[in-house]
Amino acid sequence: MHSFINSRLEFFPRLNAGHYPTPIEELPRLRAALGKRAPRLFIKRDDYTGAGLGGNKVRKLEYVLAQAQADGADVVISMGGEKSNHARVTAALCARLGLPCELVMNPPNVRYDGLKPANLVADELFGAKIHRVANRDERNTFSAELAARYMREGRRVALVPLGASIPLGALGFVRAIGETKAQLDAANIQITHIVHASSSGGTQAGIVAGCQLYGLSAQVVGMSPDDPSASIAAHVADIITDIGALLETTFDNRVIVRDEFVGAGYGIPTDESTNALALVARTEGILLDPVYTAKAMAGLIAMIGDGELTADDTVLFWHTGGQLALFYAPQ
Ligand SMILES: Cc1ncc(COP(=O)(O)O)c(C=O)c1O
Repeated sequence: MHSFINSRLEFFPRLNAGHYPTPIEELPRLRAALGKRAPRLFIKRDDYTGAGLGGNKVRKLEYVLAQAQADGADVVISMGGEKSNHARVTAALCARLGLPCELVMNPPNVRYDGLKPANLVADELFGAKIHRVANRDERNTFSAELAARYMREGRRVALVPLGASIPLGALGFVRAIGETKAQLDAANIQITHIVHASSSGGTQAGIVAGCQLYGLSAQVVGMSPDDPSASIAAHVADIITDIGALLETTFDNRVIVRDEFVGAGYGIPTDESTNALALVARTEGILLDPVYTAKAMAGLIAMIGDGELTADDTVLFWHTGGQLALFYAPQ
């Protein structure tokens, strides 16, 4: 079965940009800090995927940009907030491919006078051209207009949607589950849950489809850092169905997305996320990011506090990267 899935995956071109397998580490000191009833905790270090300072976007963009290259694209357009991790990795991989990259960006909810988000500094260093729009809603229209204009001028445009969360990109996470299953089997670890941040949906869709394909039976819990769970879950379910079409199979596309830990909004820390970030840093020497993974960790800690997760469980927390959002540079 696994060789059949692997050969279906091999059908799609893929860049060889990330460093795999990313490590799985145990978190014994975090567990001890969370009390006697806390489950055994592991972390999947996708903050170490490497390219462009890593994170979950590398796995998705390896497929999406390989396809852009195969299609003969001569410019890549994508979008995000000024602190976007997706934008940073897109810019880095485009630099590596020698492809011009243009990013349509809106200002972040949290900003400081005279300081520039480190992700934006990286985008510029990677040579991306930045187009600014006023808000999240304007990103799609502006990008589509820009793409249409370039195409009228005879250019071959690859328009990469938010977070590269299209079925092709999500294959990166199907593949990641093959990698993870092999690591867990080799270490004789049986997990009961995977917990991670879920927003544009590609990560969760790939994880859920991958678990079904590779026979990894764990409940997958996506934690929203922004939108209501119903809208993220619907989008994740659609991507799962479309991954099925790509791989010529069908999946159960029911998913769990929770939105109780968003707080005041995207990128705005909560007391719980700030505490979670500090706790993981102090107990395990691991930095989370303030926008996504700290809120996902706050959700995991709340599930332990509420007794939803107990010492009978074993949880794999998926670190999706993004730590650069902690840092700023002078403007
Ligand atoms: C650090 C980080 N974690 C998690 C996510 C969520 O992943 P996805 O957009 O695939 O749902 C993102 C991007 O949105 C991210 O940058």
